[in-house]
Amino acid sequence: MSVLVPTMGALHKGHQALIKRARTIDDEVIVSIFVNPLQFENKEEIEKYPRSPERDIEIATIAGATQVWFPEYEDLYPQGFRTLNSGPLGTIFEGSSRPGHFDGVVTVVDRLFAITKPSKAVFGEKDFQQLSIIRAMKSKVEIISVPTIREFDGLAMSSRNVRLSAQGRNSALVVNRALSAARLAPTVEIAIEILNSTISTEPGFKKDYATVIDEDNFSLATDATKSKRVIIAGWVEGVRLIDNMPMVGR
Ligand code: PAF
Repeated sequence: MSVLVPTMGALHKGHQALIKRARTIDDEVIVSIFVNPLQFENKEEIEKYPRSPERDIEIATIAGATQVWFPEYEDLYPQGFRTLNSGPLGTIFEGSSRPGHFDGVVTVVDRLFAITKPSKAVFGEKDFQQLSIIRAMKSKVEIISVPTIREFDGLAMSSRNVRLSAQGRNSALVVNRALSAARLAPTVEIAIEILNSTISTEPGFKKDYATVIDEDNFSLATDATKSKRVIIAGWVEGVRLIDNMPMVGR
C-alpha cells in the first residue's frame, strides 16, 4: 500500500509539508502532478497555471516522494469517463464563484484513487472546502489533512502567489491580518465585522466572501456552533486568493 499526495504541480513548502506527512505514514509515497482541466472555468486559467516539472521532481523527492507521477489526460480520463457530482457542498462559496470546480476535483480525485489505489491520501487545510468535499466522497482511501503552511509574513503558501507583483503580494497580506484578528473575536457577529473592516483597509483586495462557517457543513456559524472556521476569498490583481483559520473557541 502507498500514500498518495495529489497536486497540480508548481510545488512549494506547503506541498512539501504534505509529502513529509505522507512519508511519516508509509515508505511508499506517490506524488501526482496533473493540472486538471475539469476544475478550471476557462482555458485561459489553465494556461496561466504555473508549471515547473523539473523543479517539482526535485522538491517532491527531497521531501520524501518515492514516485512522482505526471499522468496524461488520457490516463485519467479514458473515452466515456463520467464526471462526478460534488453535491450541495460543491455549489456554495468556492463552488458558487467557480461553477463546476468541485465536480472536476472529485472526478480527478476519484480517478487518481482508482489508478494508484493508495491506502491513504494527504490534502492541505488551505483548501478547506475541497478537503471537506473529498472527505464526503466516503472513499475507502483514508483522508489525512495537514494545516496550512505560511510565508514568514503570514501569506498562505499557494502556487498562485508567484503571479502577484510585489505590491499585489503586499495587498494579499490583508487576508492573513483579517483572519488572525477575526478568529479571536468573542462572537460570530464581531468576527464578521472585523473581517469586513480589516478588508476595507486594503483597496487592492477585491472580496468575494468573508464569513464564519460551521466546519461540519459550511452553513453560517452561530455562537453556539462547536467548530467554527473563518473563511475568506477574493482577488488581488486578478489572482484568486483563499484562506481560512479555525476560530478560537470561547
Ligand atoms: O488542491 C489541488 O491541488 C487540486 O485541487 C487537486 C486536489 C490536486 C485535484 O486536482
